[in-house]
Amino acid sequence: MRVGILGSGLMGGKLGTLFARAGHEVVFSYARSEQKLKKLAREAKGRARPGTPRDAAQGADAVLLAVHWSRIDDVLHQTGDLTGKVVVSCTLPMNGDNTELVLAHTSSGAEALAKRVPKARVVSAFTTVPSEVLFSVFAARRKTTRPSLVYCGDDSSGKRRAAGLIRDVGFEPVDAGPLRTARYTEPFSLLVARLAYQGKGGPELAYRFERFGK
Ligand SMILES: NC(=O)c1ccc[n+]([C@@H]2O[C@H](COP(=O)([O-])OP(=O)(O)OC[C@H]3O[C@@H](n4cnc5c(N)ncnc54)[C@H](OP(=O)(O)O)[C@@H]3O)[C@@H](O)[C@H]2O)c1
Repeated sequence: MRVGILGSGLMGGKLGTLFARAGHEVVFSYARSEQKLKKLAREAKGRARPGTPRDAAQGADAVLLAVHWSRIDDVLHQTGDLTGKVVVSCTLPMNGDNTELVLAHTSSGAEALAKRVPKARVVSAFTTVPSEVLFSVFAARRKTTRPSLVYCGDDSSGKRRAAGLIRDVGFEPVDAGPLRTARYTEPFSLLVARLAYQGKGGPELAYRFERFGK
């Protein structure tokens, strides 16, 4: 695939490098220096190059949006037309100093983003929980039995990979069924992880999720 990276910081830089090393064609864009984009492309090896946000989107099968929430309008303005493109967003809807979500906790930000690019197909990826809040969980994983973590999905080979990644970060993967269940389980992931380590009985937890409303 051809993947355009909009925002080449920690997330965009790392993911773009992984995509390039997996054989995809990658255009790194949107950093404060051209030098940085060149360096990323050089070090990613594979088919990676630096470019403008417009270059990154042109001919791309998918673009990765990896800027701070406050920079979305600017990067989208520089990118131009995204009609029909898949926009994978890892941007969390956080305020300027990243202390609070600027949207309700019921949204990953994908809905607000989709309104700004109505002709694109917006997907919110990775997690709506900032990874920093899991640091204490990662630290605890060395001291106790591995707790379970639920995951969902519709694609069986994707799910096998997801299960491997979950094991890598210290949890036992538990298949919770199709992707449509994710919306209801994902906001609980932090709570479940904390309870698993700190609650009585450790990893032996039983829990139930209910869907409210229609
Ligand atoms: N979903 C998840 O699991 C997850 C996990 C972590 C982070 N995130 C989210 O992902 C987003 C990106 O995080 P990050 O840690 O990758 O941030 P970051 O390292 O600060 O990257 C942001 C990028 O935007 C560029 N940028 C900022 N201001 C700019 C400007 N005025 N002109 C041009 N480029 C500019 C930065 O340039 P420089 O490279 O020159 O600084 C950098 O390349 C954030 O919204 C964060 O909350 C999501």
